[in-house]
Amino acid sequence: MHLEAPPPFLKSTMNFILETLKVLGLVLWYSLESFVFCFIPTKKKNVAGEVVLITGSGSGIGRLMALEFADLGTVLVLWDINQEGLKETARLVKEKGVTRVHCYVCDCSDKAEVYSVADQVKREVGDVSILVNNAGIVTGKKFMDAPDSLIEKSMEVNTMAHFWTYKAFLPAMIANNHGHLVCIASSAGLIGVNGLADYCASKFGAVGFAESISLELIATGKDGIKTTIVCPYFINTGMFDGCQTKWPRLLPILEPTYVAKKIIRAVLTDQVFLLLPRSMYLIAGLKNILPTKQGVLLGQYLGAFSLMDTFRGHNKKVQ
Ligand SMILES: NC(=O)c1ccc[n+]([C@@H]2O[C@H](COP(=O)([O-])OP(=O)(O)OC[C@H]3O[C@@H](n4cnc5c(N)ncnc54)[C@H](O)[C@@H]3O)[C@@H](O)[C@H]2O)c1
Repeated sequence: MHLEAPPPFLKSTMNFILETLKVLGLVLWYSLESFVFCFIPTKKKNVAGEVVLITGSGSGIGRLMALEFADLGTVLVLWDINQEGLKETARLVKEKGVTRVHCYVCDCSDKAEVYSVADQVKREVGDVSILVNNAGIVTGKKFMDAPDSLIEKSMEVNTMAHFWTYKAFLPAMIANNHGHLVCIASSAGLIGVNGLADYCASKFGAVGFAESISLELIATGKDGIKTTIVCPYFINTGMFDGCQTKWPRLLPILEPTYVAKKIIRAVLTDQVFLLLPRSMYLIAGLKNILPTKQGVLLGQYLGAFSLMDTFRGHNKKVQ
């Protein structure tokens, strides 16, 4: 008996129904999986022997992450423009018994310097397998008051430096299908903030870049290279000194050690997005679904319009 092929319209409708059902089933399955993992502790990976490069590790979160990685038996490569800060981080790391720590003065805003220091690292230490793009700066001025040079610098340090470090270290990770890319962005990379236009633009850029590369790696089958994108609210490191939070219970100013520990945990469990504090997941979600007027109202309620009014930053401490 000769069966006739279904007409093209019927075939495409059946394909649509089958594929939609398959995706809905998987969505349900992954949701169940996430729910179950809320109660079961996630297995942590072993990073002993991995070569971890942290930019901006001469102070703040960078230094604290170096100290956390030191406890895990990693080889540390520390970059910063601040030589004294680097020396201090290396000293603290060595106090913990780590012998393989390598410091390099590198201005991450300078592409040529990033490439040249990266070559030096490859020759002297080897391939980097965990790359933490952490170096960051903030101008803290209203857009029209910010000098062009500072705006450009913010983009170069907070965004463009990530491009150049990936270009330098990703090829070896791809060749081995092994590695981890960590982007220290900010909640200002998910939600715009009055008075932080250049910083927000640079952090939105960093988030978009890291997320896209992660998808590019998945699409090319390089699933051994993991990505973690970190978006914290204010951290008490001095970078945003003077800034105050309106509702400290909902949006507390975070303690640096807590943040560093959370980041390392996210890396060890291959968590893709880490938003801190937890309320940031809800706020970022609401921002994306609320109509504009309600979004602005929520921003005002959360104090986002006056966050930067009392900003002093690192260099302008009150006497
Ligand atoms: N502190 C906060 O409230 C906060 C909130 C969200 C995100 N972040 C992000 O966390 C990261 C770490 O910030 P932090 O709070 O530890 O600040 P920090 O100022 O203590 O540390 C930043 C480090 O980056 C270094 N650095 C600056 N420019 C550099 C350059 N061109 N090349 C190399 N190194 C350079 C600095 O010397 C410093 O050691 C930054 O990317 C920052 O944007 C901070």
